[in-house]
Amino acid sequence: MKKYLVIGNPIGHSLSPSIHNHWMKKYRLIDSIYEKRKVEKEDLGSIVNEIRNEKIKGVNVTVPFKKEIIPFLDCLDGAAECTHSVNTLCKVNNEVWGYNTDTPGFRTSLTKDSSIDVRNKNIFILGAGGVTSSILEIFLDVANKIYITNRTKEKAQELKKLADISLTLMGRKKIIEVINWGEKPQVCDIVINTTSVGLAKGESLDLDFKDYENNNNALFYDIIYNPKETNFLKDAKLRGNKTMNGKMMFLWQAKIAFHIWTNICPEIDDEVIKLLD
Ligand SMILES: NC(=O)c1ccc[n+]([C@@H]2O[C@H](COP(=O)([O-])OP(=O)(O)OC[C@H]3O[C@@H](n4cnc5c(N)ncnc54)[C@H](OP(=O)(O)O)[C@@H]3O)[C@@H](O)[C@H]2O)c1
Repeated sequence: MKKYLVIGNPIGHSLSPSIHNHWMKKYRLIDSIYEKRKVEKEDLGSIVNEIRNEKIKGVNVTVPFKKEIIPFLDCLDGAAECTHSVNTLCKVNNEVWGYNTDTPGFRTSLTKDSSIDVRNKNIFILGAGGVTSSILEIFLDVANKIYITNRTKEKAQELKKLADISLTLMGRKKIIEVINWGEKPQVCDIVINTTSVGLAKGESLDLDFKDYENNNNALFYDIIYNPKETNFLKDAKLRGNKTMNGKMMFLWQAKIAFHIWTNICPEIDDEVIKLLD
């Protein structure tokens, strides 16, 4: 049996098993099974060893271990290296590799599923948690200006520091500004919620976006996909802004992980989209 896992803590909410088991059935990988496992930080080394010893074929890593897993790995792909965030593990030859499929997943959701051209835009990112570096990464070489705010300001400052290194390597000037939590920059083209506020039904960010009233060019993107429509998106829709939730990002990152493990490029069709509803 080829075993795949998603590891995290908590893990009960994860919908990764539904998606991957659906594809395993669809592509007749009858000897494969994908499960979720709640783990502690002390378990990370032994999970990586299970991949090394081929007891586990592939792993997805979720909150809060996307960074903590890195010291146990032999190699990182480019996105994982830049963002210091790993969400997919696989043995390649004799090495355990860490990949970041959140970054290409988010990029693809914007380029394929929204009609937004991200070049030369002003971006406002709320949050500086584990996933935010993966979101920030795709704007570094194309944005005009990026504003970041987080309840714990030091984490936003750390993200800026990491991204400034990439910007310098790209030969770009420093385009990131950290904003105090509760404050807003000028009206931006894309506003992204990467905080977990909204995961619990009814939760709201305490920010007034009245200056976006009737702005049908601005995109409000919430990377949360369950619930489908957070208050952040509900309010944006009422104001007349474009909206998008995290469903397609989630599916694209899963598709890329599935391809890394199996060499099969699974289809994102209505059937698999419905599994997240
Ligand atoms: N669509 C997808 O494929 C996808 C992929 C990954 C993650 N996600 C979603 O993205 C969200 C964040 O994930 P993560 O891995 O970055 O989580 P995380 O590392 O736990 O970070 C949580 C973030 O939310 C902020 N936050 C939490 N409670 C808050 C509150 N009451 N007020 C203000 N800010 C608050 C935290 O601020 P502090 O730093 O101040 O604590 C931090 O910025 C989750 O909802 C997750 O489901 C979606």
